[in-house]
Amino acid sequence: MARRKQIYEGKAKVLFEGPEPGTLVQYFKDDATAFNNKKKGTITGKGVLNNRISEHLMLRLHDIGIPTHFVRRLNMREQLIREVEIIPIEVVVRNIAAGSISQRLGIPEGTALPRSIVEYYYKKDELNDPMVSEEHITAFGWAATPEIDDILNMSLRINDFLIGLFLGIGIRLVDFKLEFGRLYDNEEVRIVLADEISPDNCRLWDASTNEKMDKDRFRRDLGKIEEAYQEVARRLGILPEGGQADYKGPKTIQ
Ligand code: TMP
Repeated sequence: MARRKQIYEGKAKVLFEGPEPGTLVQYFKDDATAFNNKKKGTITGKGVLNNRISEHLMLRLHDIGIPTHFVRRLNMREQLIREVEIIPIEVVVRNIAAGSISQRLGIPEGTALPRSIVEYYYKKDELNDPMVSEEHITAFGWAATPEIDDILNMSLRINDFLIGLFLGIGIRLVDFKLEFGRLYDNEEVRIVLADEISPDNCRLWDASTNEKMDKDRFRRDLGKIEEAYQEVARRLGILPEGGQADYKGPKTIQ
């Protein structure tokens, strides 16, 4: 890890300078945090699984025309990504009530929402990532109106697609968090999907038992965390039945 210049270290990932200008290497750690770093732990093998799961989902989304920062997997814990300017907004899409919406609005966990609900949170650890509206986002210049329109449209398409993808493998997509960035390509600026999509930032429930298969197992001390992440990867078809990671050559997209 010391070979390259470190650009940024987050709670679950590290970004290093990439091999070419405009690229970065995204390294997935086993570290887990919850409640804005108040709870800390390690989930053995999580980084390896999230690297694979996020790669798989980003490639499937690329297939339906969602632009992403993903270029290719480099090794078990690292992927090459395009360097983007992260928009300081976490976009949460919810299909079923759980977590903070259940607490805030008193909706019992597991209640199907009347329609998918999109929420925005301002990425600012010191402020505990407060919920904000589109008004705040445009007024304070975190994103321009056409950018937030793009972000909303992409988030809803991603939700529709991922609901189907997960339901096909017996998993309910309860909610998830996305981040987007500005990709500067010659004269052009485009909004692309960034960060990761993994059981760290999704709620995934087994469709027949409602068993949690995501980071809530860590947040709520439910045990069998590694097993849950592995099971998600196995059902996605990116682990052989035995559970050992099946490391085929990396795939490239542009
Ligand atoms: P919430 O119910 O705690 O607001 O979380 C909604 C979804 O967003 C859930 O799938 C977990 C994810 N999430 C993150 O990825 N990062 C965060 O910092 C938070 C608060 C939630």
